[in-house]
Amino acid sequence: MGIKEATSVLHDIYDEALESYSIKTLLDIGCGRGDFIRRMTQRGITCKGIDASAVMVDECQRAGLDVGCKHLNEIDEKFDAIVAIFDVLNFLNHNELILFLQDISLRLNDGGVFLADINTLHGFRGVAVGSVSVDNKDEFLCVDAEFEDDKLYSEFTLFKSDGMGKYIKTQDVIVQYYHKIKFFEKQSSLKLVKKQTVSLYDKNDKNLLIFKF
Ligand SMILES: C[S@@+](CC[C@H](N)C(=O)[O-])C[C@H]1O[C@@H](n2cnc3c(N)ncnc32)[C@H](O)[C@@H]1O
Repeated sequence: MGIKEATSVLHDIYDEALESYSIKTLLDIGCGRGDFIRRMTQRGITCKGIDASAVMVDECQRAGLDVGCKHLNEIDEKFDAIVAIFDVLNFLNHNELILFLQDISLRLNDGGVFLADINTLHGFRGVAVGSVSVDNKDEFLCVDAEFEDDKLYSEFTLFKSDGMGKYIKTQDVIVQYYHKIKFFEKQSSLKLVKKQTVSLYDKNDKNLLIFKF
């Protein structure tokens, strides 16, 4: 399954999970290309998004979406719902996650909901590890992922044609952190009201979490 299809499968599940809540305003943290914002906007919800990537934000803004390249603590409004979906929490280490959840509770209206997902241990250890490559005409990308000490290290190597017969090589490493559900159950300001295993690339490779404020 490609990334587009996987995104759509996840968004279907999260869309359905939010149906039973009365939501007029929503903040999408780590909104990426803005697909979930588009979907929620079609449901009549007023949506905003933030993303750490200027490239993603630029793409959203060019599509007319209300998205900024901001940190959560730079947001001063409150929302009926906040979402952080498709691995966003796994990009935060334990200390960052504690501060992030505190900021979430400051930005939710009374009775508001926070929906997020986290990769399961199997999702990291059994599914995400290994190597994949994508070979296009002008680009060759290789991703090599290893899981160690509850962290997934994904090394990206890109060879990009300079159009004059040479390829420029760039490399980057992204770290994702495994978080236990127990940690979320212990939160005092946000109450975990729903946990559901999700099978995306393999059986039970993600958990959907819904909190109420
Ligand atoms: C795998 S993508 C998911 C995009 C989108 N949520 C979706 O469901 O299609 C993860 C996104 O989270 C963003 N991101 C990661 N950590 C973030 C943070 N602390 N604050 C805002 N955005 C973040 C990345 O830039 C990336 O666009």
